[in-house]
Amino acid sequence: LTSKDIEEPISEEVKNTLEEIKIALTYGEVIGLPTETVYGLAGDARNAEAIHKIFVAKGRPGDNPLIVHIHDTKQMETFVEPVHENVKKLMEAFWPGPISFILPLKGDYISSNVVAELDSIAVRMPSHPVGRKVLQYADIPLAAPSANLSGKPSPTSSDHVYEDLDGKIYGVIESEPAEYGLESTVLDCTQFPYRIARPGAISITQLREVLKEDIERHRDTSERPISPGMKYKHYAPRQPLTVFFGNMNAGSKALPYDKNKKTGVIAPETMREYFKEDVVFVSLCKDEASYREASKNLYAALRFMDSSDVEEIFIYGFDMNDETEALMNRIYKATGNTVIRG
Ligand code: TXA
Ligand code: MG
Repeated sequence: LTSKDIEEPISEEVKNTLEEIKIALTYGEVIGLPTETVYGLAGDARNAEAIHKIFVAKGRPGDNPLIVHIHDTKQMETFVEPVHENVKKLMEAFWPGPISFILPLKGDYISSNVVAELDSIAVRMPSHPVGRKVLQYADIPLAAPSANLSGKPSPTSSDHVYEDLDGKIYGVIESEPAEYGLESTVLDCTQFPYRIARPGAISITQLREVLKEDIERHRDTSERPISPGMKYKHYAPRQPLTVFFGNMNAGSKALPYDKNKKTGVIAPETMREYFKEDVVFVSLCKDEASYREASKNLYAALRFMDSSDVEEIFIYGFDMNDETEALMNRIYKATGNTVIRG
């Protein structure tokens, strides 16, 4: 289903597809769902069996909670304690969109395996037209982690979901590639000041502009993992991956290539000319300033290298600032922090 398919008036065929999706979800099936960040693996958040299927299909540890996706803030009234004015302000500013809020959980409407026995719950209202349509049509709160096998990069296209989960789930809603390409910002609103549990598409600057109150920056330390997901080993390609910073016009001379190995380079298109040697060059974006485009393409580039015969990978490091925080956070997670400065 593309965004065009769901424009009114909706065809009979599309209506049947939506109906099939709704029935499958109602019966506890799990489905690949397009969102603007990455594809999710969605199931009825009230149905323990559906949630169990999600954990099994992904091979995800049971103590890592899921985000619940909604299309209307009214849905939260059944499972979240009344939200603070400040949270409302943020929701009004950024929803539907790429941010999840961790809020105090209420009652047992949501299956306990969604929140991994925590007393808080992460909630998100996605903006992807197709994801949103499915949420509206089914009118079910959908728990959805990223639709990758645990330990693989998140899927930014329906093909990635097939790659990882074909045969293990009911189906995938085929739609456009994800617009952002990195997972949502996760903001913990169960403590003061609010704290970024996972950097994402919405930057701390954007949050501070709306809230005008302090927000704690994300800290990637293991001493206090507030988002359980952060403590797990993240995606790392099977080949050694090194991030390089600085002027790369010395190309191959600037990077410690192993001449006996097939080398892959992931970098902005403007750098292709510096790597004329026998490397597999994957263009991440137009130039060093195109960090949005780079975010969108990062996971596909890593998946490409993973499936190639490349034996070592170098990836371009973008200037560190609030806008590139999420992108660099994911790059560092994939490299295991091996860094070269040019
Ligand atoms: O963009 C996204 O957020 C995507 C799309 C599908 O919406 N979903 C996603 O879900 O990235 P997942 O499960 O891959 O990541 C959810 C993150 C994990 O790090 C998890 O630990 C954290 O959110 N999380 C969820 N519920 C939480 C809670 N109650 N307290 C703390 N952290 C929580
Ligand atoms: Mg994930």
